[in-house]
Amino acid sequence: MNIKGIIFDLDGVIVFTDKFHYLAWKAVSDELGIYFDEKINNRLRGVSRMDSLNIILENGAREYSEDEKHQIAEKKNEIYKGYLSQMTPSDVSDEVRKTLIELKRRGYLLAIGSSSKNTKYILERVALSDFFDAISDGTNIKKSKPDPEVFLKAAEFINLPACECAVVEDAFAGIDAAKSADMTAVAIGDATSCKKADIVIGSFSGLLKYFH
Ligand code: BG6
Ligand code: MG
Repeated sequence: MNIKGIIFDLDGVIVFTDKFHYLAWKAVSDELGIYFDEKINNRLRGVSRMDSLNIILENGAREYSEDEKHQIAEKKNEIYKGYLSQMTPSDVSDEVRKTLIELKRRGYLLAIGSSSKNTKYILERVALSDFFDAISDGTNIKKSKPDPEVFLKAAEFINLPACECAVVEDAFAGIDAAKSADMTAVAIGDATSCKKADIVIGSFSGLLKYFH
């Protein structure tokens, strides 16, 4: 492995906003009378807002127009942002913060690769806006994970070829995206059962064992 850059997914890796996504989608689904649970929520990891809504609507009793879908997605995002506005720097664990600082000290370029359009707001809430060398997010991509675009853009932003980048992901879609990008895929959390991962870590500081 000749890794020089590490690209981190945000939701479920750096911060546990995945629980806020769940609560916001749950509120919207309940109002629509559509069944939604944690298992369905796991399918939404790494997937864009609209693609997530389309997965949820698979359990709906009828078709929804594009206009209705936009309204529902907007409502979900308002509820979600309500949770985000309560976040503080303490929402990044000491383990994550110390590990990120140590990886930077070891000379790695560090980037964010997230499908979320709320990425910059979240990083601001947790006081990490200026920490990363680059941010690739839902605002600079056309296709969300499992498409590799978000990670290829992150590699471009830190001026590294894909083969010198590792990706840290909690989503199956994110591991697929990393492998399609020809990057080393590190699985954490929900993605640890994904067979395609190159490295599996039990917790964030596990990265220090693999990246010297
Ligand atoms: C990803 C999450 O990081 O961002 C997905 O894992 C989410 O669950 C996606 O749907 C889009 O997020 P946002 O904030 O743009 O709605
Ligand atoms: Mg994630």
